[in-house]
Amino acid sequence: MKTALVTGGAGYIGSHCLKPLKAEGWDVVVVDNLSTGHKKAVTGFKLETGDIGDPDFLDKIFSSHTIDAVLHFAASAYVGESVQNPAKYYRNNVVNGLNLLTSMLRNGVKDLIFSSTCATYGNPTEIPITEKHSQTPVNPYGYTKMVFERMATDLARSSGLRPVFLRYFNAAGASDDGLIGEDHDPETHLIPLAIATALGLRGELTIFGDDYPTNDGTCVRDYIHISDLADAHMRALEYLRGGGEPTAFNLGNGEGYSVRQVIETVEKVSGKPVKVKMGARREGDPPTLIGSAEKARKVLGWQPKFPDLESIVKTAYKWHETNPNGYS
Ligand code: UFG
Repeated sequence: MKTALVTGGAGYIGSHCLKPLKAEGWDVVVVDNLSTGHKKAVTGFKLETGDIGDPDFLDKIFSSHTIDAVLHFAASAYVGESVQNPAKYYRNNVVNGLNLLTSMLRNGVKDLIFSSTCATYGNPTEIPITEKHSQTPVNPYGYTKMVFERMATDLARSSGLRPVFLRYFNAAGASDDGLIGEDHDPETHLIPLAIATALGLRGELTIFGDDYPTNDGTCVRDYIHISDLADAHMRALEYLRGGGEPTAFNLGNGEGYSVRQVIETVEKVSGKPVKVKMGARREGDPPTLIGSAEKARKVLGWQPKFPDLESIVKTAYKWHETNPNGYS
């Protein structure tokens, strides 16, 4: 049986890949330090609790399991926090990331799927953003993800590492079975915050700026369902195992929705009003981020099953309504 090591597998995106991996015949080993991840999200899977910054821990994992491929999600992932505390981001995402890469190579593991982001592009000079767009991040989070891509690309040349970089746009939604979903502490993302406001768990939602050069003045994002992201990971693994070359794929729906449209969609799905107040722009927010995932569609045969915002918000709403306190 082939075995996948999933770092950060107790987190939002990693945990949604576990079931699909199992369904595709993979044995799964999750590594997570549980600093932000949830044990409950790994129910039914092997969890090794530890930190990818610890070389001895990683070597022990690689020597006690025959790992065929690594899916690397473990990272710090708040844009705002990365501006306040860049050292944490360079340590967790770059230094510990390099530790994982060197441990993989020491143990003869070459196939890697990396959880990257559209934040590596910075402020777009063209919409939709393709993989050829320049990578000029506007915050430390984006830089750390870009540096990891660069390290892995150099190690591909020098040591035969085989990385595929998946650059997500805005991940949202929850698994169809309602068992796992989004639970960040603190929560900073628009969809869960709007839902929590609709459910009366929060007083009001602040819209961060309505003076952007967009249709209604609020920021536009390309939302992609978490299960569609998971499916892309399965296809990227298949691509690598079939001898595909190291490369990068954007993952988004190619459709932009403004903050106001997201709020209206949450109101429609929930049947409840979302109380809002206007606030200042949030530092580091590009006005519009919309991706072209044509390459993933062509090369991987990827076809999102949740192509519109309403279908994505429905799954998120179901999760938050059933689990108002998340996993706790
Ligand atoms: N927003 C609000 N009010 C809130 C929260 C968010 O108006 O209370 C706005 C933001 O300003 C932004 C939009 O809603 O315009 C979406 O914000 P999110 O925080 O949900 O998502 P981001 O676009 O900031 O971040 C996402 C991922 C990051 C990734 C980034 C790339 O979560 O990991 O996209 O830009 F780096």
